[in-house]
Amino acid sequence: MPRTVLVVDDERDNNDILSSLVQAREFSPIQVFSGAQAIAAVAERKPDLILLDLMLPDMDGFELCDRFKRARETNLIPIVMVTALNDEKHRATGVKVGANGYLSKPFTPERLYASMDQALAWHEEHQKRGTTGEINFDIRSELTYLAQANDMLADLFAHTSLTPRQIKDLKQAIMEMGGNAIEWGHRKNAELVLRITYRIDPKAVTLIIEDQGPGFNPTQLPHAASEEDPIGHIELRNELGLREGGFGIMLAKGLVDSFHYNERGNVVTFVKHFDPKPE
Ligand SMILES: Nc1ncnc2c1ncn2[C@@H]1O[C@H](COP(=O)(O)OP(=O)(O)OP(=O)(O)O)[C@@H](O)[C@H]1O
Ligand SMILES: [Mg+2]
Repeated sequence: MPRTVLVVDDERDNNDILSSLVQAREFSPIQVFSGAQAIAAVAERKPDLILLDLMLPDMDGFELCDRFKRARETNLIPIVMVTALNDEKHRATGVKVGANGYLSKPFTPERLYASMDQALAWHEEHQKRGTTGEINFDIRSELTYLAQANDMLADLFAHTSLTPRQIKDLKQAIMEMGGNAIEWGHRKNAELVLRITYRIDPKAVTLIIEDQGPGFNPTQLPHAASEEDPIGHIELRNELGLREGGFGIMLAKGLVDSFHYNERGNVVTFVKHFDPKPE
């Protein structure tokens, strides 16, 4: 069976252009012109990829993306959202379920193919790992939205075999690390977007929290607590005029089974295994 791409765009010309471009890559395009048609098409046959225009007559692309990503049957279909440049404002609203990629108009065939390749590679990787699901939330940098996203994640945790205690630990770790992303990574600039990715593999839940800030060096934190010396930093914080604290990272590390930052320090990844470790 040929690989298919569902092209969702109500403007006939755009839809045709996208369709002929994917055809040139030897995918067979399925053309639909509304959200309702897209839902019906996916129910009939799962495409290998969805190209989703943001503006549809009956619902917006984010709504549709949210719907596909939250349903188990369609969660792993890669979605590339096609947006116009002036849609950028949509990127910083509350909490939204993110697509696998964004392609801004006007685009070149190369950019289209690059975003398709990336989304397909994402799918392939999950196929290999046996991932049951992945969802990401793009969150405007405010604590209320972080809390809202955390509640949504907790609902998703409820469908895993994590114990209530483990869920509580994960929620707390998310609040600490999301709080750091907002306070230190984004310096409370609410326009920046915080991304939380939640992935369920057969044996574990992985959380990835990414901010758009400059990052930091987590091995050089004299103003934060360490396992070896949980209070030695307090005096320094006073001297530096920093608010009380410095416990978040130490605390979060202790709540999960594995915990690490990327090299730059703007992405933190932590994992909780389904089988509780023996006490
Ligand atoms: N995402 C981030 N980007 C930049 N710097 C960060 C980030 N996360 C943490 N930091 C730095 O690491 C320090 C330690 O973070 P940690 O969460 O342990 O303590 P805190 O946020 O200062 O206080 P607390 O979490 O106890 O309220 C922060 O003070 C900040 O300097
Ligand atoms: Mg903190």
